[in-house]
Amino acid sequence: MPSMANSHYKQTNGTISNNDSRRQKILEQRKSLPIAAVEKRLVEEVRNNHTLIIVGETGSGKTTQLPQYLFKAGFCHDGKLVGVTQPRRVAAVTVAKRVAEESGVQLGQRVGYSVRFDDMTCGSTRIKYMTDGLLLREALLDPRLSRYSVIVVDEAHERTVHTDVLLGLLKNVQKARSQSANESVGRANSNNDTNLEKANGVQMASPLKQGQVAKLPPLRLIIMSASLDARIFSEYFGGAKAVHVQGRQFPVDVFYTLHAETDYVEAAMVTIFQIHLEEAPGDILVFLTGQEEIESVEGLVRDKLPQLPEGNRNIVTVPIYASLPSEQQMKAFMPAPDGFRKVILATNIAETSVTIPGIKYVVDPGVVKARNYNPRTGIESLSIIPTSKAQALQRSGRAGREGPGKCFRLYTEREFEKLADSTVPEIKRCNLSNVILQLKALGIDDIIGFDFMEKPSRMAIVKSLEELFLLGALTEEYKLSDPIGNQMAKLPLDPIYSKALILSSQFNCLEEMLIAVSVLSVESIFFTPREKQEEARTAIKRFSSPEGDHITLINVYKSCDEFLESGNANSSKEKTFKNMKKWCKENFVNGRSLRHARDVHRYGSSLKAYCERTDALSGSNNLKIICLSQIRDHVKQMGLRIASCGEDMLLFRRCLAASFFLNAALKQPDGTYRALASSQMVQIHPTSVLFRAKPDCIIFNELVRTNQNYIRDVTRIDPMWLTELAPHFYARQD
Ligand code: CDP
Ligand code: MG
Repeated sequence: MPSMANSHYKQTNGTISNNDSRRQKILEQRKSLPIAAVEKRLVEEVRNNHTLIIVGETGSGKTTQLPQYLFKAGFCHDGKLVGVTQPRRVAAVTVAKRVAEESGVQLGQRVGYSVRFDDMTCGSTRIKYMTDGLLLREALLDPRLSRYSVIVVDEAHERTVHTDVLLGLLKNVQKARSQSANESVGRANSNNDTNLEKANGVQMASPLKQGQVAKLPPLRLIIMSASLDARIFSEYFGGAKAVHVQGRQFPVDVFYTLHAETDYVEAAMVTIFQIHLEEAPGDILVFLTGQEEIESVEGLVRDKLPQLPEGNRNIVTVPIYASLPSEQQMKAFMPAPDGFRKVILATNIAETSVTIPGIKYVVDPGVVKARNYNPRTGIESLSIIPTSKAQALQRSGRAGREGPGKCFRLYTEREFEKLADSTVPEIKRCNLSNVILQLKALGIDDIIGFDFMEKPSRMAIVKSLEELFLLGALTEEYKLSDPIGNQMAKLPLDPIYSKALILSSQFNCLEEMLIAVSVLSVESIFFTPREKQEEARTAIKRFSSPEGDHITLINVYKSCDEFLESGNANSSKEKTFKNMKKWCKENFVNGRSLRHARDVHRYGSSLKAYCERTDALSGSNNLKIICLSQIRDHVKQMGLRIASCGEDMLLFRRCLAASFFLNAALKQPDGTYRALASSQMVQIHPTSVLFRAKPDCIIFNELVRTNQNYIRDVTRIDPMWLTELAPHFYARQD
């Protein structure tokens, strides 16, 4: 009997050139989804319940189908939108593309998406997929979310910090809107122009004032989750109703290793090839922890292929992770070339957020990269930690979507037994500065009293308040400061990056800081294949600055710009793209990351397309600018002076010291460093250009915890600058 995966290849390849039959296939697929059987009932439940919880297994059709049902049932009348939030940008983008195709419309028209720095919506968009963080930002300008009739909070079981804060906020918005629906309307104002006008000036939108606002229909809220436990959401929303959608799951055989593995990347490699050589056709999904690891496995597989027997080299790898540029994300969803086996290298994004067809084998090393926050030291770090049992089950489930499958856990059964049942919500293990700044900008001053679904510790809240105060975003009364706090809240960046941008306009180096912040916002722009480390190191030397990594990163960015500008003025987009790819390869620069950084900085991938499509920007112009545009436009809009310090990088380093002073470290006699704010012992990461030089005093960008406390992206500073530029923090200390 041919396997399911095989028939999947055949189906898709056979129909790709024939639009009508492809549409027919999609229609059949839609009808066969478990959720299709309960469409009527679901729509009824949404009509009857202001808040509804929908629980259903991954792949049952929640994310793609429900919004279409609601559109069809008339929830978008009066030009209102159905908004669907996702914890990750990849999910928002890929699902929007799929739904546009299913609906037979062009992406960005009726169905669109909106994620940070990338927008595909227009005035006629009615179903809008977005990240939860983006909706939070929209609330800054439109506190009653007046454009939406329904908000679907998807993947709520993931409990990202943005989801948790959003749920608290939506609870307030729902209250405000049902009150306003019952009250007589004060000044009629059928759209949200007043708020938008305010946002155009310096002031942010003010919190809701009852009686002054327009009449709006109640906001319907749908919380969707793949975990079976709906109780926690139901309780939080006053006993909201929960409905379960029956899933469809084929049996999955789970295999464990007999002994603990020391190197899970190596073990994953071996397992991939073992499956490829010994098992029936079907795609493989491998869970890894991040872009760098994924790229390293991509390289390893490529290198190993020639060692396989000639007839067995039919294997292709495709990466998928959160920050992957959207045009590359879709590759994971496309079928492999005829006769090839596709190996998808994914982060935990593929656990529940996206459903990739054709998977029959799952390789699960049992680890995940997670944020961790120590409120005592105020240091947030990234570390690789074991998954929870719930995650392990979700992962293995991915192998049984279309037929029986197999899951290879790269750890022992005893280790599985020791795993925690479920993951700790992110709000309990992250730095809260970012969300507190946003809540403050929304007029919510009492953070400790805010109705969180699960309260972060008081210590964590206080520490973040203190940090925001030290950065100048809050006054001594812990109110949002003006203009610094207001400006910081407007930028869609970590508070410390926002502060660096604002300060840099005073230090005459905003041009340089924009580049630095853009590059720091993406994953490493260096590409160091395991087997070519020496060559890569030599290549990087061409850019490296003795002052540190920040200037080195700027050098790479600028060199690429210069290369592209020299003699390429009239080249086509494809040619430029090709040239850049070649340049990156020669210089051991990660082309994906660099392109992403350029998008963040100023070139934004689809905003331009949007502007062309809509000609004149409509009334939601300001909303666009604050939520979506590239950071260069943001700072311009805020009236900051964009100047370059030219060769004088001293100014730039002083500016770094003035903004990153909470991340300063001093060398100790043994060559390690002491982080000054936390007194933690840390080491410079081996990839830093300062790894050997070991200057006396440095600032760093982030702390990564592996077997050591490593600090990454490090720049040399003069310790005296700290007392001079951050006297409120350092004058008291030695
Ligand atoms: O949200 P849920 O996990 O319940 O399911 P979904 O994301 O709506 O996916 C339903 C089905 O749509 C999947 O089984 C996939 O076959 C298909 N799908 C797809 O082909 N391509 C996508 N980008 C998303 C979904
Ligand atoms: Mg889903």
